[in-house]
Amino acid sequence: MVKIPKITRRKAMYLGGATLATTLLTGWLKQPKSLKTYAARKELIYGAAAAYSKLSENQEFAKRFIEECAILTPENDLKWHKIHPKPNQYDFSRGDWLIEFAKRHQLQMRGHNLVWHQSLPKWLKETANPQNAESILKDHIMTVAGHYQGLIHSWDVVNEGIEVRDGHPLGLRKSPWFQWLGKDYIDIAFRVAAEADPNALLFYNDYDLDYDLPHQNAKREAVFNLLKSLKEQGTPIHGLGLQAHLSGPETRFNAEKLRQFLADVASLDLKIMVTEMDVHDRGLPYDYEERDRRIAEVYEMYLSTVLEEPNVIGVLTWGLSDRYTWLSKHRPRNDNAPVRPLPLDREFKPKLAWESIARSFDSK
Ligand code: XIL
Repeated sequence: MVKIPKITRRKAMYLGGATLATTLLTGWLKQPKSLKTYAARKELIYGAAAAYSKLSENQEFAKRFIEECAILTPENDLKWHKIHPKPNQYDFSRGDWLIEFAKRHQLQMRGHNLVWHQSLPKWLKETANPQNAESILKDHIMTVAGHYQGLIHSWDVVNEGIEVRDGHPLGLRKSPWFQWLGKDYIDIAFRVAAEADPNALLFYNDYDLDYDLPHQNAKREAVFNLLKSLKEQGTPIHGLGLQAHLSGPETRFNAEKLRQFLADVASLDLKIMVTEMDVHDRGLPYDYEERDRRIAEVYEMYLSTVLEEPNVIGVLTWGLSDRYTWLSKHRPRNDNAPVRPLPLDREFKPKLAWESIARSFDSK
């Protein structure tokens, strides 16, 4: 599986002859192989989501995380209910710990997220209304993105703002923010985030953009139209996050359609990141070998397509090890066997999915 870097005769001579070439080659082979090094060789960044609770409790996990990852997304610790538990109270303790962890281990950090219809604290739902919601939103973004100013690689400013099934003509989700503020909440959020942290890349992040299914085709179109109108009105947006929560048994994948969508997004001068990739195994056979093989195939099919787009700057999985994945609860198997959606197994050993990701980086 390990592809040896090609060292051409010319390059070898330029480097000072065969001896130096051999030294370089041996050095490369001796380098510990990790997803972050495979990614970095193609100027990409690889990382994963993780929770404060897991990174701080499990040293072995933290060690493997640092070995494999160059960027970290706090899985829940920056969400509204965690970081803004009361109207006038912010709790930065977990986020600050993660920032320190990231600094110590040369990890970049993503911000996730500033506006979402989920994980909203009870107080917000009880007190927000069309009159005060804008100032609550602005205060939150100024405070949170301001607190981490200069420390965040990219913020998911608006998460999951499109839901075509809600019936809005532009496909906008009828989220609490939409109900309170109408469609302008999206532009407002990006502008305030840009003010609070001028250095961070600002992303729109969403799921169900991957397959050739009527609902996902419609969703891609609505997301593209949203991004286009934001760019046209001068909203400071820099990228699209593809969550890429994929399905093991789903076969309706159309590489050409996905490629075209990504090219369209790139034509708006937007970067693209795969922000939350995992492959659920509900509906796949129990047998580990067969299951891992099928999951690995999905990783490779998807990433080899997405990485063809030059504006893609990185890939994150939603978790690193099968020991800690939201899918255990969110998408359990019918036979209740432990789920296997991520690159490392429960003992933090690389699975076939790890190899698929490495190979996808390598063949870019
Ligand atoms: C999930 C977390 O992984 C869970 O622990 C939590 O209970 C719910 O949220 N899309 C997103 C993420 O943008 O924030 C979600 O994370 C997964 C789907």
